[in-house]
Amino acid sequence: MNNEVPRHVAIIMDGNGRWAQKRGLKRTKGHQKGAEVLKKISEYVYDKKIKVLSVFAFSTENWKRDKEEVDYLMDLFIKAFRKNFESIKKKGVKIVFSGLRNKLSSKVLNTMDEMVNETKNNKNGIFNICLNYGGQDEIVEATKKIAKEVQNKALDISEINQEVINQNMFNDLPPIDLMIRTSGEYRISNFMLWQLAYAELYFTDVLWPDFNEEEFDKALNSFGKRDRRFGAIKK
Ligand code: IPE
Ligand code: IPE
Ligand code: MG
Repeated sequence: MNNEVPRHVAIIMDGNGRWAQKRGLKRTKGHQKGAEVLKKISEYVYDKKIKVLSVFAFSTENWKRDKEEVDYLMDLFIKAFRKNFESIKKKGVKIVFSGLRNKLSSKVLNTMDEMVNETKNNKNGIFNICLNYGGQDEIVEATKKIAKEVQNKALDISEINQEVINQNMFNDLPPIDLMIRTSGEYRISNFMLWQLAYAELYFTDVLWPDFNEEEFDKALNSFGKRDRRFGAIKK
């Protein structure tokens, strides 16, 4: 039992499509409901004294989906960011994005930049939205940045350590303590590979559009019962 509140919680919000299909609706309806759930959960976590929330909104692999679904999601991001995240802003939470900027439309990029700019001085918490994100890409990008510093003689190879790598990630975030994945899939799907190194994993069959505060509390309770040893032996 650690009975602690995790500092950094990360969520793979999965199951929107299946939620809709089960109801005979178009997959996009599931995304719409999923965005409402994200609004509620993102407001809830900071009241629980959690400092950092990371969510997987769109992966670099999600471009493989039909154009109709991708277009809908991009449109939804703009609308949801504008509308839903006002409350996050009011809570004094800083919004950051992780991912590649290529392939995203200027409309999406402008909205993202606005959100980041408007909240950059906030100190009460961090909301990290992974959009056009892949964990392996993040490591590749960090490697390039570090290699450039070495090439420019700003950094010596002997100075490269875990901290330097962390600082060169899309965002310099604390390690993930608790990772939640909904919809009964037991995989990481290329999500935050570096930051997940010692995270406690929580999987639930609940589909993301059915997820709520109560389900979030279940994950927190499960986390509180874990014995986190980090390789050591507890006396
Ligand atoms: C997660 O739900 C949302 C995104 C990947 C954008 P899915 O769309 O993957 O839903 P399922 O897994 O097909 O049910
Ligand atoms: C992971 O879910 C990406 C997001 C939740 C945004 P996917 O549904 O895309 O992952 P796979 O295909 O099940 O691995
Ligand atoms: Mg899925």
